[in-house]
Amino acid sequence: MNQDELKEAFDQQATGYEERQMKLAPVYEGIYFQLQWVFSGLPDNARILCVGSGVGTEISYLAKRFPNWRFIAVEPSGGMLDICRKRAEQEGFSSRCVFHEGYLDSLSGLEPCDGATCLMVSQFFLDKEDRVSFFQSIAKSLKPGGILVSSDLSEMVGSNEYSTLINLWAKMLHGSNVSSDTVDKIHSAWLKDVAILPPEEIKHLIHRGGFELAVQTYQACLVRAWVARRL
Ligand SMILES: C[S@@+](CC[C@H](N)C(=O)[O-])C[C@H]1O[C@@H](n2cnc3c(N)ncnc32)[C@H](O)[C@@H]1O
Repeated sequence: MNQDELKEAFDQQATGYEERQMKLAPVYEGIYFQLQWVFSGLPDNARILCVGSGVGTEISYLAKRFPNWRFIAVEPSGGMLDICRKRAEQEGFSSRCVFHEGYLDSLSGLEPCDGATCLMVSQFFLDKEDRVSFFQSIAKSLKPGGILVSSDLSEMVGSNEYSTLINLWAKMLHGSNVSSDTVDKIHSAWLKDVAILPPEEIKHLIHRGGFELAVQTYQACLVRAWVARRL
């Protein structure tokens, strides 16, 4: 999928996105829980860049716990960003947010941030060099020593681990009686549209993007998360 097709796909999924994600909530909740502790040493007036902020789940989580922090939501899908904006208004933190409909490279006048989140986003770069450039643009938006938390689907495709985990994923998404057809459909969609790489390779790509070697802090099924400081 190119960027326009991906944006269109997320526009179409925006309504009901959060409800669907709730099915897998326990898989992701550990990342949010860790976020608050990974970022806990940041200053009282920290600025957090949320790349691919989606409907605002991670911003909402952090905004409730750090009442003075400011957030820059970068999101190409207008549908997803609208829901993020409405949520920020309903939950009372919209005055602490900048909402940028677009990509990081079209965001002008950004002062360097203290931290960045990039949750389930870099996996959509099918080309590894594009993925490195993406991490580079995040690094440029951070202060030296600024902290990145990144998560993605990650495993060695074709391994025993991968087939066990993708079966588990299909069951968690669709219930216990999952046909092998359903697993095959998920698998083919991912092979086409998502770059699922082994963890060591993702760590290396983040490093090449201008960060210290990332540390994996989390894994639940096929989702892994890493923490890395900007060089
Ligand atoms: C799977 S969703 C994750 C949303 C949110 N981070 C979360 O964890 O709930 C991926 C999001 O990244 C956005 N996205 C895709 N490519 C992007 C890019 N190059 N830069 C910024 N956001 C992007 C999509 O529009 C989508 O909203």
